[in-house]
Amino acid sequence: MVASESISIVLVAVVAFLTLIIWMVQRRPYRNLPPGPKGWPLVGCIPMLKSDLHLDLQDLGKGYKDIYSVYLGTRLNIILSSHRAVRASLLKYGSVFADKPAEPHIEVVNPHFYGTIFGPYSEDWKMEKKFTIKALRSFGYGSTSIETNIQKEVTKLIEHFESLKGPHDIMKSVSIAMSNIMTLILFSRRYDYDDQGFLDILQTIGKWMENTAKLQGDLNFFPLMGCLPWVLKRKKYTRHLNKKLHDFFRSHVEEHRATLVPGVTRDFVDTVLHEIGSDKMSSTLGYYSDDKFMYQLHSFFPDAVDTAPESMRWLMLYTVYYPETQKKVQAEIDDVIGHNRLPCLADRDAMPYTQATIMETLRFSGVVPINPTHCCLEDTEVLGFTIPKNVDVIANLWAVHHDPEAWGDPEVFRPERFQDKEGHLISHEAYMPFSVGRRSCLGEQLAKKEFFLVYTSLLQRFTFSFPKDRPLPSLKGEFGFTLRAKDYELCVEKRTDL
Ligand code: HEM
Repeated sequence: MVASESISIVLVAVVAFLTLIIWMVQRRPYRNLPPGPKGWPLVGCIPMLKSDLHLDLQDLGKGYKDIYSVYLGTRLNIILSSHRAVRASLLKYGSVFADKPAEPHIEVVNPHFYGTIFGPYSEDWKMEKKFTIKALRSFGYGSTSIETNIQKEVTKLIEHFESLKGPHDIMKSVSIAMSNIMTLILFSRRYDYDDQGFLDILQTIGKWMENTAKLQGDLNFFPLMGCLPWVLKRKKYTRHLNKKLHDFFRSHVEEHRATLVPGVTRDFVDTVLHEIGSDKMSSTLGYYSDDKFMYQLHSFFPDAVDTAPESMRWLMLYTVYYPETQKKVQAEIDDVIGHNRLPCLADRDAMPYTQATIMETLRFSGVVPINPTHCCLEDTEVLGFTIPKNVDVIANLWAVHHDPEAWGDPEVFRPERFQDKEGHLISHEAYMPFSVGRRSCLGEQLAKKEFFLVYTSLLQRFTFSFPKDRPLPSLKGEFGFTLRAKDYELCVEKRTDL
């Protein structure tokens, strides 16, 4: 046995021993906790996890209605696994459940817990989120001017698709097109579909998400694992990815700073620069260091350029996998929009089947299978149990969206479940892909607009199919922060049935 292996074994033994001591000292006797599966000392239910956390948590919750407690390593987690439990906590006690725990894996990538997604619930955080929503909105985020930007981008995407020959991974260009909507709002900048520098940034975001999720597994459940060699290596690599992303944001911010004109606001970055001005103390954002600015951009940029395109990847996959869906969406497009103009947001109300297909995609795919961890600011009564202050609370959105009691046939892709007998669009109390409550998704409105306009514009012009000589792609997602559809190729054919 080589010396480094012996050292690793000794280190693991020391870490396990110290963790056991800490666990014995820290374990508090909670009262009236939701019941849950019995785990082992120290490791809790970790040995029962097989691969995908959302599925494993769904399995562990069998037999416990709505809500249960589970130790994962040394951490106690309260799992919300039905819409009743999520509504009775995150929605009913919005501000109490709006806090975030100081998780060790987040500390690695964001040591001060800055930014909307990671920040603890505080006056500063509330001010920053309010400011961010207002600033994003003034650049078309919630208004109709975003429609023009999306339509312009879609026109370029259509031109690009017209030049395609043979099977193609269309999501590469669709991802850049969707990311461009965000980079226009933030930096007034769009990227070509073959821009290697920007493709590299998108890849960096994917790797950042993957490695941060892995660090969560390593550190949250056994914090002392942080000193093991392979975890140290992953920490270093993830910090390197962080730096690469912050350098990208910083280059845009510096460019804006150099060309900033008083009274002229070009985009989100200008709005922040004007707000903080030269006197960083007097702005509504308080003392806003450059570092804080980078983390704020970091807190929503990956969602905008990853979660939204990932959802689109699922939407196109299901559309082709279930050919009836493609035909019905195209029939609705032909009926309502025709072929002489691009789709616009005002068409949405007249297109319930198309909207239902988008909703069913977000339910069925589980693109965000598990909410980022919340915690509550005080002991709180939920469905007859007590959720203790500061304990990790995880909403398993996958379980909510695949609960047979709520949906009847959750494992079937059926857009019609979001339509009434007359075909009108209806919602469902268990439908919450953007979560609910004070920490619900900041990008919901933008994402919905993008999906509708990009999806209908593509299906108006093209019919998509799988290459004939290959097996059908898998519908099983790969688990990370988001659940990703595996890469697949599509044949893109200009519609001749117009
Ligand atoms: C289909 C696309 C998207 C889905 C399914 C989605 C879903 C979610 C979910 C489930 C959460 C967690 C909420 C919670 O912790 O309770 C979240 C948070 C968040 N999302 Fe999204 N998201 C999407 C797109 C976007 C976009 C386009 C943006 C950026 C403009 C964005 C920005 C954020 C931010 C900043 C948060 C943190 C909110 C907070 O902690 O207060 N998301 N999203």
